[in-house]
Amino acid sequence: MPCRGIRFCSFGILYLFLNNFIFPTASYTLKNCRVTQNRDAICQKNSLNVFPKDIPERVRSIELSRNNISTLYKTDLKNLPNLLRLDLTRNRISKIESSTFVVQISLKVLTLNNNRLCKLQEGMFDGLVNLIELYLTSNQIQTVAPASFKSLSKLTILDLGHNKLRHLTNVFLQHTPLLQNLYIPANNISTFNSWELSNKSTELVTLDLSQNELMYFRLTAGIFPKLKRLFLEDGIKNGIVWEVNDTSYLRNVVRLDVSGVRSSLHGLQEVLKTFNSSSSLRHLQLNQINNGLRDLINISCKFSKLSYFEIRNNSIKVIRSDLLHDCTYLKLLNLGMNEITEISNNSFQSLRLLNTLILKSNCLTSVPYAVRKTQISKLDLSHNKINILGCDDFANMTRLSVIYLSNNPLLALKDCVFKDLVNLNRLKLQNSSIHQLNGTFKKNKQNLKTLSLINNKLTVLDHGEFEALKSLQTLSLKGNKLKQLKDRTFFGLSRLTHLNLESNKISEITNGTFGDLKALKTLNLKNNQIKYASVEPILYPPFAELSQLDTLDISGQSRSHKRLNFPQNFLQGLTNLSILYIHGNHLTSMHPNTFNYTPNLNVLVMSDNFLTDIHNNLFSPTQKLKGLYISMTMLRSLDFLLHANLTELEMLLVAYNTFSVIREPVMLSLPALTYLDMQGNGFTCNCDNAWFLQWVITNEQTQVFAAYSYECSYPPNLKGRKLLQVDVRSCIVDMDFICYISTACTVIMTLAVSFTHHFLQWHLVYAYYLMLAFLYNSKNKDKRAHQYDAFVSYNANDEGWVLGELLPKLEDEQGWRLCLHHRDFQPGEEPYPEHPLHPH
Ligand SMILES: *[C@@H]1O[C@H](CO)[C@@H](O)[C@H](O)[C@H]1NC(C)=O
Ligand SMILES: *[C@@H]1O[C@H](CO)[C@@H](O)[C@H](O)[C@H]1NC(C)=O
Ligand SMILES: *[C@@H]1O[C@H](CO)[C@@H](O)[C@H](O)[C@H]1NC(C)=O
Ligand SMILES: *[C@@H]1O[C@H](CO)[C@@H](O)[C@H](O)[C@H]1NC(C)=O
Ligand SMILES: *[C@@H]1O[C@H](CO)[C@@H](O)[C@H](O)[C@H]1NC(C)=O
Ligand SMILES: *[C@@H]1O[C@H](CO)[C@@H](O)[C@H](O)[C@H]1NC(C)=O
Ligand SMILES: *[C@@H]1O[C@H](CO)[C@@H](O)[C@H](O)[C@H]1NC(C)=O
Ligand SMILES: *[C@@H]1O[C@H](CO)[C@@H](O)[C@H](O)[C@H]1NC(C)=O
Ligand SMILES: *[C@@H]1O[C@H](CO)[C@@H](O)[C@H](O)[C@H]1NC(C)=O
Ligand SMILES: *[C@@H]1O[C@H](CO)[C@@H](O)[C@H](O)[C@H]1NC(C)=O
Ligand SMILES: *[C@@H]1O[C@H](CO)[C@@H](O)[C@H](O)[C@H]1NC(C)=O
Ligand SMILES: *[C@@H]1O[C@H](CO)[C@@H](O)[C@H](O)[C@H]1NC(C)=O
Repeated sequence: MPCRGIRFCSFGILYLFLNNFIFPTASYTLKNCRVTQNRDAICQKNSLNVFPKDIPERVRSIELSRNNISTLYKTDLKNLPNLLRLDLTRNRISKIESSTFVVQISLKVLTLNNNRLCKLQEGMFDGLVNLIELYLTSNQIQTVAPASFKSLSKLTILDLGHNKLRHLTNVFLQHTPLLQNLYIPANNISTFNSWELSNKSTELVTLDLSQNELMYFRLTAGIFPKLKRLFLEDGIKNGIVWEVNDTSYLRNVVRLDVSGVRSSLHGLQEVLKTFNSSSSLRHLQLNQINNGLRDLINISCKFSKLSYFEIRNNSIKVIRSDLLHDCTYLKLLNLGMNEITEISNNSFQSLRLLNTLILKSNCLTSVPYAVRKTQISKLDLSHNKINILGCDDFANMTRLSVIYLSNNPLLALKDCVFKDLVNLNRLKLQNSSIHQLNGTFKKNKQNLKTLSLINNKLTVLDHGEFEALKSLQTLSLKGNKLKQLKDRTFFGLSRLTHLNLESNKISEITNGTFGDLKALKTLNLKNNQIKYASVEPILYPPFAELSQLDTLDISGQSRSHKRLNFPQNFLQGLTNLSILYIHGNHLTSMHPNTFNYTPNLNVLVMSDNFLTDIHNNLFSPTQKLKGLYISMTMLRSLDFLLHANLTELEMLLVAYNTFSVIREPVMLSLPALTYLDMQGNGFTCNCDNAWFLQWVITNEQTQVFAAYSYECSYPPNLKGRKLLQVDVRSCIVDMDFICYISTACTVIMTLAVSFTHHFLQWHLVYAYYLMLAFLYNSKNKDKRAHQYDAFVSYNANDEGWVLGELLPKLEDEQGWRLCLHHRDFQPGEEPYPEHPLHPH
């Protein structure tokens, strides 16, 4: 940069100076966190003992969970006024200084779950005037100071679950008039007296008192006019005193959970009876009650609006036809986690509105006949012992749209099983032992949109195996034992958009396998064994017909650590491919033509390969690339980027490679880069990387992830040192700096001269002559080789000592030549040397 003017240069260097040395944290390299494009800071787990100091001000959320922070100091967050969310879950916070959050007027959600707070103190939450959600689950809170929540006037959710509170207090509601959801489960509260909480009506919609040991529940005023959800699960002690003076106090409760209550039958009946039979109760959970269940069901089924009924984990073995006879309004019935082996034929007959029946986790060995007499559209039979499906099991169930049959020991399907299910939309058959589809999906035109056969034992699929599924959109065959995909396996699936073949044993994709999948958008072939002999072009590229494909995953093909190749036209046809995963393939080289066919590639994940060198032209066709992941590939240099012209690249991950120098033109060739991860490389810590180092610290656009952990591998004496601690200032011969120095000198000189001229004029004249004398002296030095080493001036009284002692010592022993007044002085001649400071 040419030096255009003194002032300009001074400012330039001043700016540089401040930037480099005075505010080192103003740079864009965070020690343990990274900032996403949404301005969320995400901090590494297990890396911080104190709140990070280097989070940029513009950040809107910070995720700090699973660290080791023990105290929040009032200075910690003072530079973060824009925060909307702060998550400090699972730290060791036991102390929050008063006024810590005073500038967080924007904060909406504060999460402090799983910490070590014992007390909520006054001032702790001051400033959080816009806080809406406060989560304090799983601390050790015993006391809450009266004014703790005084700033929290907008709070709507307060979660104090799993603490050690013993009493309810008005503190929870006094300053939080908008509070809607109050969660205090699993504390040590034995008494609920409504007057302790409030005497006037509240906005509470949810009150969770579950897992307390309630002995008294006294509701003496209508303080919950809006209460919809009351959770008392596992929270009522045997012999509870339940006083609700007016049943209308709970008239709006929609959802009640009294699961697991250890109360006498009578007690629980009392509780249920306070919900007037014409009340609005719609959702009732009666789980884990082993005592008097039938009576409770009888009472419950009188609630005329009850539509969601859970009776889980009650060890029910047999469902008799009278059990649910009165529950005529039910829409959802959940009988999961019982031990049901038998269901009477007419059990559900009176449930005319029933839509969803959940029989998950029972001991059924076949599809119960009773379900056929319903009008349900959703049936969950997963986790049972059904080992065979009969042709009539779902006969005439034309409304059925969702069936979950996962985790049953099914061995095979029959082609007639789903024949009547014209509206079947979603079928889940995962985690069974199905090894034969037996043509089930070949005929009977169906409306199935999602079919999951994950984790079964399929080894072969027929030609046109799913031929009848003309509407199918998602097919998952993950975790089977498929070896080869035949020609036209997927014939007929013209609407399929997602196909998952992950974790099979596919080694070869034959011609035409995917030829019919014209609408396919994502194809997952991860963790198979696809292999090709070389990079030579192949006659029939496997994805040639998949022009709509957006995402392709072919990572992890090399299980036996064999090195792989992809033919150079492997990706031919994928003109709309946007995301490609080819990591973990042990690829040793990639032909420069590989990406010629994928001009719309946006994200390419090719980490974990052996691509020591990348061809300069490999990325030339992928001009729209925004994310490039090439970590762990043994790259020796990044120079290939110079030729790639990746002007839109935003994220570059090249961690754990073997390059050591980053050249300026490489970084400058990536004008859109906002995130760079280079950790795990060994850097050269000399002037070769001086530019890079400077750039890491000063550039404001690109966040360099974990830059503080980058280590030197060269020169040997710096091995193991942190890159950012290396001083390379001497390397940077900066035009700015030269300008600065000259400017500074000129200014100082000018000042000095005018000062001297003004105040020290005569001294100046004297000094001038002195200088002349000095110059004259030095000029004539050589002409007049000096005769003496010293002139000795003395008093006549000392002459004896000089001549007797000094002279012999210096002249004889030391070999000096002294000029003595009496001996060497010629009258009329000046003694030599003449010096003004010589004492005389
Ligand atoms: C967490 O911090 C405590 C002190 O506050 C320390 O004793 C402990 O070793 C730290 N644990 C980890 C994993 O850093
Ligand atoms: C619960 O509180 C009672 C006294 O009210 C006390 O005896 C008991 O130890 C407390 N339990 C726990 C788990 O803190
Ligand atoms: C409600 O009123 C009772 C008696 O009038 C009083 O003891 C209690 O402190 C009041 N509660 C609140 C939260 O103000
Ligand atoms: C509520 O009812 C109980 C008895 O169930 C009674 O002792 C109490 O005085 C009543 N309280 C109010 C405020 O009506
Ligand atoms: C139930 O509530 C209605 C009005 O909400 C009321 O008329 C009726 O008396 C109540 N019944 C009982 C048993 O409390
Ligand atoms: C439940 O109610 C029905 C009729 O509403 C009655 O026949 C049956 O005996 C009752 N069951 C129990 C256990 O009370
Ligand atoms: C089922 O209920 C038993 C007690 O009856 C309890 O120990 C168990 O944890 C419950 N299971 C689940 C999954 O909730
Ligand atoms: C239930 O229905 C099945 C199938 O129609 C029938 O075989 C069986 O006998 C019936 N069971 C009873 C108890 O009626
Ligand atoms: C299905 O319904 C038809 C007519 O509604 C009836 O004829 C047939 O027997 C039913 N099939 C079964 C297996 O219930
Ligand atoms: C498969 O279907 C054929 C006829 O459709 C039948 O003969 C055979 O038994 C079926 N296999 C199984 C395992 O159900
Ligand atoms: C491969 O597919 C193409 C077009 O789909 C077809 O012309 C060719 O005969 C097939 N070759 C083999 C060996 O199946
Ligand atoms: C690089 O890409 C930009 C836009 O993507 C284009 O304008 C420019 O010509 C390209 N340069 C080279 C050398 O290919």
